Amino acid sequence: MTHILAAVAWPYANGPRHIGHVSGFGVPSDVFSRYQRMMGHDVLMVSGTDEHGTPILVQAEREGVSPRELADRYNRVIVEDLQGLGLSYDLFTRTTTRNHYAVAQELFRTVHRNGYLVPRTAMGAISPTTGRALPDRYIEGTCPICGYDAARGDQCDNCGNQLDPVDLRNPRSRINGETPKFVETEHFFLDLPALADALGSWLQTRAEWRPNVLKFATNLLDDVRPRAMTRDIDWGIPVPLPGWEDNPAKRLYVWFDAVIGYLSASVEWARRSGDDDAWRAWWCDPDARSYYFMGKDNITFHAQIWPAELLAYNGRGARGGSPGRYGVLNLPTEVVSSEFLTMEGRKFSSSRSVVIYVRDVLERYGADALRYFIAAAGPEAHDTDFTWAEFVRRNNDELVGTWGNLVNRTASMIAKNFGAIPEAGELTTADHDLLARSRAAYGVVGEHLEHQRLRQGIGAAMRLATDANQYLSQQAPWKESDLERKGTILHVAAQVVTDTNRLLAPFLPHAAQQVHETLGGTGAITDRPEIREVADLDGGPGYPVITGDYGRAASWAPQAVVPGTVVAAPRPVFAKLAPSVVDEELARLE
Ligand code: MF3
Ligand code: ZN
Repeated sequence: MTHILAAVAWPYANGPRHIGHVSGFGVPSDVFSRYQRMMGHDVLMVSGTDEHGTPILVQAEREGVSPRELADRYNRVIVEDLQGLGLSYDLFTRTTTRNHYAVAQELFRTVHRNGYLVPRTAMGAISPTTGRALPDRYIEGTCPICGYDAARGDQCDNCGNQLDPVDLRNPRSRINGETPKFVETEHFFLDLPALADALGSWLQTRAEWRPNVLKFATNLLDDVRPRAMTRDIDWGIPVPLPGWEDNPAKRLYVWFDAVIGYLSASVEWARRSGDDDAWRAWWCDPDARSYYFMGKDNITFHAQIWPAELLAYNGRGARGGSPGRYGVLNLPTEVVSSEFLTMEGRKFSSSRSVVIYVRDVLERYGADALRYFIAAAGPEAHDTDFTWAEFVRRNNDELVGTWGNLVNRTASMIAKNFGAIPEAGELTTADHDLLARSRAAYGVVGEHLEHQRLRQGIGAAMRLATDANQYLSQQAPWKESDLERKGTILHVAAQVVTDTNRLLAPFLPHAAQQVHETLGGTGAITDRPEIREVADLDGGPGYPVITGDYGRAASWAPQAVVPGTVVAAPRPVFAKLAPSVVDEELARLE
């Protein structure tokens, strides 16, 4: 049994989540975590809303509310979106808790004490008309590296490189188009050059990563420069040093604190569990494993900045040092990054209403139809296009036509002919073959999920359903006059439905519970995340979290069906969608 940390990217609390977001970090991390729990591992799946920085400020300004009000509003909306999708976080919290502030400041202080946060005078942008600091993200210009003409001040979305606004060619303000003025300002810089060797040696031990992520991370080392970890902004975590702490115009950089959320959420989870030190099993034991799930625009921060913060905290860079009060902390085992989801051929954009919100899909089609699409056709290794036509086709042909049909015909024939799962008589070669394939599928699908290959994993599970449908067509139990043979065929079918349902449970947890009950099963076989209102542990305002009492899930191993289990006439588990859904949905996008 291994301790497995599933560290899931923190969505900005600046709006409801769209399906692009949850196909990048949400569904992949949940399928992986559910599978690992079924394997008997100790999974800790944590995340929360990312509530600082300019993304929050920009939206707060747009909605005419304070950043705090905005964060409260969307923290709650996002919690509902993600719980509705069935994402089984052990704790989904937020970055505005007192606990998070304390953990982030502890990391800053230790990294500073170890000598990896150095003060430097830099050129900061201000607006010539207002005289106020202009945050990096408000500045746009031409990327000095690849020439992309809409690079942001902090990062180029085209080549992925991190930038400084001063480096942009033709910089302009995104607020009013004016050319920013650059003035001197003091900030703390993370000394990446002093951590580069340690980062490089660590990356060399990461051979198992997806090649594109490893290559990207290794390339980043070609151009390491100190990076500013503080900002001229009034919304964020105070810089915990004398002379800075009380300065309301300087705050920690949102990315410095957000990645620390993985640790602070683990600490919060432990404190809520009643054992303050329980988080250490995932962070301090070198045998523990950690998997970080995100979209590709987050790779830099998870494959370089966060590991650098950890190495600096541990005192493992060129300047030496010693760990702070948390001790030596584990670096990521794996950075799992997905590509982008486009929509009907266009890039997602909330401002241009080219967007499909999670909650709308949940309301209209249910969680598992969306989870199925994302797992089977999501942007796992390539940018992928979401189309309503393909969504409806996959729902109708695959979920309803293949899987739903297998469950339905098996259960109704059992109900009608026997009223309970029949005993198996002597098995034929065809029976043996199918049962053997069914047993072997645990290894096949499991191997894919071990490596976060959802598409291949769900494909293999669905192939078993196809095989079982073919078996039923060939054996034709409805034509069989020998009652014992009829019973044997339906017994075999019930066994394969049970197995397939387990293999699909990490992907389709809601449907898996229903299928289980359709075949006469009782009790819960999949974990159900819940929303709970909690008090801040250190006296701040209360908030909703996603959490759950997990571990009721079935295990990842064949379980023999029990003859005599009563099976009633089934109700369909999946709903067929009318072809008109496609036009209705396309009309909503105009
Ligand atoms: N909020 C960031 C985004 O949406 C992701 C933050 S991941 C974290 O792109 F680990 F840094 F929190
Ligand atoms: Zn670029």
